Amino acid sequence: MSDWTLCIDFGTAFSKAAAAPTGAWSGFDPQTVRPLMLSGHEQQTNPFLLDSAVFVDDARILFGRAALGQAAASSDKRRLPLRSFKTLLSVSDLDRALATNAPTSVDPHRIFQMRDLIVLYLAFLLQTVERAAKADPALARVKEIRRRYAAPAWRSGDSAGMHTAVLGIFGEAEAFRAAMGDRLLAPEGLPIDVITSALPKAAPAAKPYEMDLIFEATAAASYTSIGLEDAGSHLIVVDMGAGTTDIAAIARAGQTAFELPEARVTFKQAGDFIDGVIANVVLDSAKWARSPEQKTALWTALMRQMRDIKETVFADGRAALRHEGRTLSLSMRDIERDNDFKEFIKGFERAYAQSLAVVRDDAKARGRPEVHAIAVGGGAAAPFVRALIAAKPKGGGPRVAARPATPDWAHAPSFQGNLAPVFPQLAIAIGGALAPDDMLAARAPSIPA
Ligand SMILES: Nc1ncnc2c1ncn2[C@@H]1O[C@H](COP(=O)(O)OP(=O)(O)OP(=O)(O)O)[C@@H](O)[C@H]1O
Ligand SMILES: [Mg+2]
Repeated sequence: MSDWTLCIDFGTAFSKAAAAPTGAWSGFDPQTVRPLMLSGHEQQTNPFLLDSAVFVDDARILFGRAALGQAAASSDKRRLPLRSFKTLLSVSDLDRALATNAPTSVDPHRIFQMRDLIVLYLAFLLQTVERAAKADPALARVKEIRRRYAAPAWRSGDSAGMHTAVLGIFGEAEAFRAAMGDRLLAPEGLPIDVITSALPKAAPAAKPYEMDLIFEATAAASYTSIGLEDAGSHLIVVDMGAGTTDIAAIARAGQTAFELPEARVTFKQAGDFIDGVIANVVLDSAKWARSPEQKTALWTALMRQMRDIKETVFADGRAALRHEGRTLSLSMRDIERDNDFKEFIKGFERAYAQSLAVVRDDAKARGRPEVHAIAVGGGAAAPFVRALIAAKPKGGGPRVAARPATPDWAHAPSFQGNLAPVFPQLAIAIGGALAPDDMLAARAPSIPA
């Protein structure tokens, strides 16, 4: 049996990872949980978040924050970093999607398929996890680490099929990582000629990666249900990330916790979709931007600052931004008036109501008075997510109580103030490392179900 479990959360916007000793779920001690500092060496970013980004430059490929920096510095404004590529893994015809060429805005050399760029990023991610684990005093000397990854429940009927495909891609990434080692982590990136000679050799050498699968919302629910033994028996979790919004529920009977599969909903609209809504709202109000060039320049500028714009407008209800000497303003109310946003909210509320009905029915059937609701992922900061989990259903039946997403231990001095602000985003990796085996969606190939 492995001593530790490490969970990788390959996110649409940010990748995260955490480790915990085996059995930590039943005898929970927050001091043993190790969220990994994947960006610990970077200055401008939270140490626990690794940007999921790839940039194909003239002669090199860069990853993570360095990819975004180089893309912003590039004089050719048509060149874009590749982001949000995780959502590709959710399409029904995966092989075909992976075999398409990267768009020329991403790969002007026209040599890489989407599959290549995903494999390269995952190799970078695996090497980054390796470095962070070695640098962690609690993990450095651990011999046996079992690995898991968190993914949305994209294709509910075929999670095992997706698992096999994803392990194949991770397997290639691991073979490439083993060949490249720390060269993958060079801030200036990896030379394209090195990649084109080594990458074709990685695929034949690849073995399926040994990794279990846990659904993202299940992982988040597993963490948040710790310590709930007395407080409550039922928990509904909303995970709004960049690419997907997942809802899941957990019920607890005595010492065992189990998922209520009928309460699980995944939909493919989340932070990225809201970014698009916000950019369109600003573009519509900027009447001076008439020419396609002006519009493209404004769109690009908005997308570069979107994280700040969104944070400000979610927190303060409005944001002001500067572009080419002009001041543009945006309010939460402008966003709420947008039709795409209204549709999104309708779908989101419907999904939550459907899931909550399942949880409350289960609580009622077991004679339990209360359901706890919690929001995780970057979307936990959104006012409409907070409002939804705080809503009290009318009529009789179990109450719904919203719980904060960030536990007290995330404020421990050892995290230097860095963990608490991003804890909702880390909850999936942490819960994935802690979850007992019976919460897994699929096992590593060598471990029979
Ligand atoms: N404080 C904040 N206010 C508003 N939005 C935020 C905040 N923090 C993060 N976000 C948004 O949350 C998203 C990232 O969240 P998260 O890290 O949970 O996503 P992810 O795991 O990469 O995506 P997914 O789970 O869909 O694959 C981005 O859209 C980001 O702009
Ligand atoms: Mg996520």
